[in-house]
Amino acid sequence: MSFTRMDQSTASDWEAIFVAARSYAAELPARIMATLRQLERLQGAYSVNQLTHCLQTATLAERANAPDDLVVGALCHDMGKVITVRNHGAIAAEILWPYVSEETYRIILNHQEFQGRYYFEHTGNNPEARVRFAGESWFALAEKFVDEWDQVAFDPNGETFPLEHFEPLVRKTFSSARRNRFE
Ligand SMILES: [Fe+2]
Repeated sequence: MSFTRMDQSTASDWEAIFVAARSYAAELPARIMATLRQLERLQGAYSVNQLTHCLQTATLAERANAPDDLVVGALCHDMGKVITVRNHGAIAAEILWPYVSEETYRIILNHQEFQGRYYFEHTGNNPEARVRFAGESWFALAEKFVDEWDQVAFDPNGETFPLEHFEPLVRKTFSSARRNRFE
């Protein structure tokens, strides 16, 4: 690399950077799988750990014939909790953004406010926070996601496909971007 400051970079520097970046991007599915595995250590006071919760949510989505990218969204929706719980929906949504539909992105981004119906009364927030999204094209699907798959997926006896079951879909989904912000 010839530069120590970006304003001195050349076209051939950027060619080398892009070659390296492509091989890093090719490892994204493996990084997603590794991040999901880390959720196993996160149980808190719930009756299942966060990996089981995500697997169970994705299993319900798959059983309901959700589109592939929404099944992956279900699998990854709480992945941000590996770093922090507070705004975990936005973290997962941004990782998913290049690889999923706009609807799936919006559902994952805002799933906490939909889930709030079931617990915001205990945390001093508005349980019907979801109403601000009424009228959005993805509203009905977000309700299905949260009401039928996410909020019920804390059952130690619930059907839960193993992580390996979803690996081919993770590899496929995170291998080709539909859209890019910046390289
Ligand atoms: Fe969840």
